[in-house]
Amino acid sequence: MGKVYVFDHPLIQHKLTYIRDKNTGTKEFRELVDEVATLMAFEITRDLPLEEVEIETPVSKAKAKVIAGKKLGVIPILRAGIGMVDGILKLIPAAKVGHIGLYRDPETLKPVEYYVKLPSDVEERDFIIVDPMLATGGSAVAAIDALKKRGAKSIKFMCLIAAPEGVKAVETAHPDVDIYIAALDERLNDHGYIVPGLGDAGDRLFGTK
Ligand code: PRP
Ligand code: URA
Repeated sequence: MGKVYVFDHPLIQHKLTYIRDKNTGTKEFRELVDEVATLMAFEITRDLPLEEVEIETPVSKAKAKVIAGKKLGVIPILRAGIGMVDGILKLIPAAKVGHIGLYRDPETLKPVEYYVKLPSDVEERDFIIVDPMLATGGSAVAAIDALKKRGAKSIKFMCLIAAPEGVKAVETAHPDVDIYIAALDERLNDHGYIVPGLGDAGDRLFGTK
């Protein structure tokens, strides 16, 4: 079974509070999502392998560590996942970015795939799929399916807020995928929205409501 990490770092929790607040406007919402994505990327890259190199400081020769040439890929689930990409790239600028377009049918709550564009060397990369919300889990499961179908071997899933139902759905369908969450909320409401959640992540990021 994949591991579930809930980040309880005070900075992440503090910023998430303002992200949730309905009085937070689009500009601030976008900035906060970007900042939390950076903080989460710091935690999620904790296990990146290092290698030793030799350098010269102004004082002497030294053996020092750099990240071993790991190939990383960041995959936002469109639309809302886009809001987390730049925050991650600030820390890992060499990562390639792919896109998976899914929307949730408002009647059935089932994800509908409309776009997939991935880096060409899918099999060699470690992927982080990002989406602010893990609600029923339909979108996350479909995105992981889409990535695996094209050859991906190593996938992590990172979101801001998850419902227990979504975590269970990903764990069941993809037990090899670790899940990274800033907050695990109570439940889903009858419309499939996370309670208390933050509302519609795409609309709040892009000001479409
Ligand atoms: C939202 C969110 C997730 C999905 C989560 O996207 O960004 O992708 O819902 O719900 P689920 O876990 O029940 O699948 P939405 O479908 O609203 O599309 P959008 O990002 O284009 O607004
Ligand atoms: N998608 C969102 O944007 N918000 C939710 O609460 C659930 C799905």
